Amino acid sequence: MFEIENHPVKDAIKQRAHINDAQYKEMYQQSIEQPDTFWGNMASEFLEWFTPWEKVSEFDFNKGEATWFKGGKLNVSHNCIDRHLATKANDTAIIWEGDNPDEDLTITYQQLHDKVCRLANVLKARGVKKGDRVCIYMPMIPEAAYAMLACARIGAVHSVVFGGFSPESLKDRILDSDCQAVITADEGLRGGKAVPLKVNTDTALASCPNVHTVVVVKRTGGEIAWNDSRDIWYHEQTDAASNQCPAEPMDAEDPLFILYTSGSTGKPKGVLHTTGGYLLQSAMTHKYIFDYHPGDVYWCTADVGWITGHSYIVYGPLCNAAITLMFEGVPTYPDASRCWQVIDKHQVNVFYTAPTAIRALMAQGDDYVTRTDRSSLKILGTVGEPINPEAWEWYYHVVGETRCPIMDTWWQTETGAVMITPLPGATNLKPGSATRPFFGVQPALVDPEGQILEGATEGNLVITASWPSQIRSVYGDHERCIQTYYSTYPGYYFTGDGARRDEDGYYWITGRVDDVLNVSGHRMGTAEIESALVLHDAVAEAAVVGFPHDIKGQGIYAYITPMHDVEPSPELEKELREFVTKEIGAIAKPDFIQWAVGLPKTRSGKIMRRILRKIASDEIDSLGDTSTLADPSVVDNLIDNRAKR
Ligand code: WTA
Repeated sequence: MFEIENHPVKDAIKQRAHINDAQYKEMYQQSIEQPDTFWGNMASEFLEWFTPWEKVSEFDFNKGEATWFKGGKLNVSHNCIDRHLATKANDTAIIWEGDNPDEDLTITYQQLHDKVCRLANVLKARGVKKGDRVCIYMPMIPEAAYAMLACARIGAVHSVVFGGFSPESLKDRILDSDCQAVITADEGLRGGKAVPLKVNTDTALASCPNVHTVVVVKRTGGEIAWNDSRDIWYHEQTDAASNQCPAEPMDAEDPLFILYTSGSTGKPKGVLHTTGGYLLQSAMTHKYIFDYHPGDVYWCTADVGWITGHSYIVYGPLCNAAITLMFEGVPTYPDASRCWQVIDKHQVNVFYTAPTAIRALMAQGDDYVTRTDRSSLKILGTVGEPINPEAWEWYYHVVGETRCPIMDTWWQTETGAVMITPLPGATNLKPGSATRPFFGVQPALVDPEGQILEGATEGNLVITASWPSQIRSVYGDHERCIQTYYSTYPGYYFTGDGARRDEDGYYWITGRVDDVLNVSGHRMGTAEIESALVLHDAVAEAAVVGFPHDIKGQGIYAYITPMHDVEPSPELEKELREFVTKEIGAIAKPDFIQWAVGLPKTRSGKIMRRILRKIASDEIDSLGDTSTLADPSVVDNLIDNRAKR
């Protein structure tokens, strides 16, 4: 165990860094006092525009509205590829590392241009046009990035669905945004195991009559069914297509993508992001937070199915003409040394991952790390959940050998890009703190009545003014967008997170304050898992809560009241776990199921989740007030029948 202590910026880092502390303070102040001047300058510096904008920003949080760079025209694919070709055509854009350590590929910006144009032409030939929605259900192969950029090139709106989601979840997402084309692969490959993506797609599409085209990448050559009127092979069609395709001029506020994410109620929401502001903030954060310099090899281990993969594998890095590494596999295959071996193999300079991965690798022992070199590493990053200081110090000492500052980046699918973060050359680090706001970001802490709290304090985290990569709407349901993010504390964007601010103004995110779980850095609504469980014939009622889990951060604990004629059994528990996997995906599978004759409810019938959380966390000494329960004896019964660990 390492001592938990503060880590001032080191000289070697400061000398190389784009931004030092004085510059951070000056730029931050300008970004708050004159946001339009600040962001206008950044938009000229970071992006290439076909037509300049008329107005930098306008927003009204009461209506959940924000526009950035209105009237400006640009294309994301042009910014991520074409404009680099004059000087960087033969530079590496993507390094792909396969699941199998013997497989890898290097793709230059010229090759990327060729691939993206060909696929864009294939989509066009199938009738996909500006504004149409395209679903991308892919493994971590370069074609996933080509697919996103091909959509952006022709103005189609992509909706990437994580390859681990079930056919049921895929179907819901395709229907919600009425996608009419799907891009997938025969199978994915993760940790040596095949993932049946085309089979899942076929199952989902049985209920999606509007899908006219499925583009299939041949990844493994595994056996799949074929529908001649709908399915086309990626390789056949792109080989035959032209490698030139003009980039569609898009308005800065035209939609770029939809990405579904869980909330505390109902079905996942299609978070809508637009073109100009999103690209600007993802590119700018990528450059400054990871102190990116030309030639650096940058690796973010996320999946493109999540926002981190969108902003920090594809759009941010490619917009900056960076070398972005894309990894098909998992950190523990063939063994727990894989990440560090990949770092040595490709001489990775920046490594960005999730706390859950760090904790899992830490649990395997230092030897897997120390047997590798890692001297290429300069900057480390984390994202997705609070990092416990012990894991932070291990990452810092063992992985980074005290050379590499750790960027603990706080943000959300809805924020589009990082919001609270250190900068390598500017910020003295405190393990467990995401530290200070990025340029233009105005966080605040509020009490339950929405009063802003000053100084060192704790409260609910809100953002008080618009930022460029802000969520624009929930696809097809703007009312839900207002309801979810802008109605709890009128006038502010509510994050759903709680946080503490210390005497130095540093933020410490404490986690969700709503009914959203964070399991291995994946967001899961408890309501979604409950809805899946009650679909099963044996289940009368279900209540799902989180509990602290050493590796995953949070685990999933389900209380289930069986139907009156059902006899609970270990077999039935197993069946229910598989049932949730089938309905949603393996990431939603409950760790524990507890059979409950009754759930603790108030007299008005509301389940008291606070009590369920305490019992699931084994904190039965601090249950709090149970006097408002309709039947307090339910609690004793639940305590007596806790799931065995
Ligand atoms: C949590 C992931 C603490 C937080 C980019 C947020 C974090 C949710 C951090 C968003 C961090 C993300 N420290 N908590 N550095 N980063 N979170 O939409 O609860 O998948 O609300 O976006 O993850 O998850 P999402």
